[in-house]
Amino acid sequence: MYIARTLEELRQHMARFDQPAFVPTMGNLHEGHLALVRHARTLGDVTVASIFVNRLQFLPHEDFDTYPRTFESDCERLQAQGCDVVFAPSEATLYPEAQTFKVHPDAALADVLEGHFRPGFFTGVCTVVMKLFQCVFSEARGQRHAVFGKKDYQQLMVVRHMVRQFALPVQIHGLDTERTAEGLALSSRNHYLSAAEKQEAIQLSVALKTLAASVLGGEHNLNALEHHAAHALAARGWQVDYLTVRRRADLQPPAPNGFRAGELVALGAARLGSTRLIDNLEF
Ligand code: PAJ
Repeated sequence: MYIARTLEELRQHMARFDQPAFVPTMGNLHEGHLALVRHARTLGDVTVASIFVNRLQFLPHEDFDTYPRTFESDCERLQAQGCDVVFAPSEATLYPEAQTFKVHPDAALADVLEGHFRPGFFTGVCTVVMKLFQCVFSEARGQRHAVFGKKDYQQLMVVRHMVRQFALPVQIHGLDTERTAEGLALSSRNHYLSAAEKQEAIQLSVALKTLAASVLGGEHNLNALEHHAAHALAARGWQVDYLTVRRRADLQPPAPNGFRAGELVALGAARLGSTRLIDNLEF
């Protein structure tokens, strides 16, 4: 496995391949990330993962400084999955000067849900993803692939939108969320949870399942359902940012009675202690 620290190293190495399959990450890799890498291996002629904790997508009060950085074990895991290349630039390499040119996504998609609670988050994500694509794909001559997880449902939609609007020659693949046997979505932020909190954390996915089941059961007063779900979690000690049912197509609320199963997604974000967790469920 080749580890590239600079753009020059990466580009020189990538010139040997035609069809890269790329998995961008912020490291601290778990089975969810590794599932993306395994899928990427089936797509192209070289599999590339990036490890870069992107300051641009963190708000000042968020966990940029404490975000777990586990480079050595990340590389061991990537190698064990058959990853070919790791791009792990320093901040000075990826942002040698202040990144004043940025990609600002469509507000209708990027200022709701996560974007509402984390203003500027998707600008930070789009900017780094666009830049990483330039780094990883610049030497490619054939089909370029990039693999993302549905765990970050809105992120996947925003990236797809960006690729479409800028006509980027990259095929985006979205993979299902990897979970523990109990149903907790794997996340680097799960490491912040105490043992007791880890038990409780499953309740976010339980709340989403309950929401979806109620809608499928014919309950169409979504506002009431969402309120009830948020109250139930709050009563267990969570601080709920949102628990909501949206259209998969555009993440807007569905019109009353104007939706069908198969078109919807329940999305949730809530804090347990100081740890903010997100999850979603398509139905
Ligand atoms: P990170 O949180 O490290 O996630 C990297 C990729 O792994 C994302 O596409 C995410 O959706 C996916 N992922 C995370 N948990 C998953 C799970 N349980 N099952 C399946 N896939 C999962 O998302 C980011 O980094 C950053 O925003 C990034 C795109 C790298 C830009 O900085």
